[in-house]
Amino acid sequence: MSEPTASDARAMLIENIGELTTNDPELGEGIGGRIREAAVVVEGGRVAWVGASSSAPAADERFDADGRAVLPGWVDSHTHMVFAGDRTAEFEARMAGEPYAAGGINVTVNATRAASDPELEANLARLVAEARRGGTTTIETKTGYGLTVGDEVRAARLAGRQVDAVTFLGAHVVPAGADSAEYLDLVTGPMLAAVAPYVSAVDVFCETGAFDEAGTRRVLDAARAAGLATRLHGNQLGHGPGARLAVEYGSLSVDHLGFLSDADIEALAGSWSGAGSRSAARGGRGSQGGAHGTVATVLPACDLSTRMPLAPARRLLDAGAVVAIASNCNPGTSYTSSMAFCVATAVLQMGLTIQEAVRAATLGGAMALDMDRDGWTDPAGAVQPAVGAVRAGARADLQLLEAPSATHLAYRPGLPLVSAVWRAGERVV
Ligand code: NIG
Repeated sequence: MSEPTASDARAMLIENIGELTTNDPELGEGIGGRIREAAVVVEGGRVAWVGASSSAPAADERFDADGRAVLPGWVDSHTHMVFAGDRTAEFEARMAGEPYAAGGINVTVNATRAASDPELEANLARLVAEARRGGTTTIETKTGYGLTVGDEVRAARLAGRQVDAVTFLGAHVVPAGADSAEYLDLVTGPMLAAVAPYVSAVDVFCETGAFDEAGTRRVLDAARAAGLATRLHGNQLGHGPGARLAVEYGSLSVDHLGFLSDADIEALAGSWSGAGSRSAARGGRGSQGGAHGTVATVLPACDLSTRMPLAPARRLLDAGAVVAIASNCNPGTSYTSSMAFCVATAVLQMGLTIQEAVRAATLGGAMALDMDRDGWTDPAGAVQPAVGAVRAGARADLQLLEAPSATHLAYRPGLPLVSAVWRAGERVV
């Protein structure tokens, strides 16, 4: 990943946009900040101007959107894309009635350890390209299918060449045959120390069958001591301490959330009222230290693929929580990178409006990654502009739909509506 360069400095005008979603309510109508008959000027990899097509400034190049919809590129804030193999047999068994269990992770661990670097890189490149075709311009991915020092460092290093953010998930499960206390010592000690230079955050699977509250606290404490931001997998398979701990530790996000108590929802919503003070609890690198609470990240494709309850996204929003939608692309519980599918599901099944779902899959994801403001650092060390919104100064990450409005994402679900994608001003689809 690299910073926009001077070679992108020619100004491009995208004009005649039927509906532009900016995510900035000061620029347009509703929480999506929608502008009809809009235009955008892109220059030097950033958005330079946003407004009515009729008052657009001159530019070096013009692109006629022909009345179609433009919105920010998807920000996929939760994936596990560094892996080898697939779990078709496990999926078939699940569809025949077997429940999902965290133990399946070890099947992918074995396949990933056995794969060569070029095999892992090629599989990741395939998934990143697939995501780009679907309109995704920002991708986080986790380690977590290596679970040895060498395999976790390898996953983080390879991931950093292709995605925007890498998260260390050594605390995914205790690998088969390992002693859980010894493994926790390894993860929070030498493994974290070895992986830290390659990642911006630390994640932990806080769940029965993975890591309990005490183990989760050890991982979060170690991450904090290393100056890394944190996120959690929590409340996926049953009620538990994940959401509560995420808020207590000032984590950037807690993800899954199929099983939330009223107190969990209140805590997630409340994390935004005292957000300024939480930045201190959160840690340093990977966090910009601003006024952020803990984002509630829902993973609709995973909920469907595991036949678990859909996360209560409607209740979270109504309570005042900040919600993100992510794909959770991984071979076990959610083998899709389609953010459009997740958005359609959030609208059709979780009760979100189109504007809420689009915002959650763009700005919400950016907030979960702490990339919604200028100045975040990508894995190559380049300082990047904000993502997740279309406003002057933001990274020019845009998708053009073959449809007059974003509503068609849910109104015509399952169709490949993405017609063009720009990332940092460069046409990538
Ligand atoms: O987010 N919940 C834990 N981790 C992944 C599942 C990974 C797997 O089953 O391989 C998830 O769903």
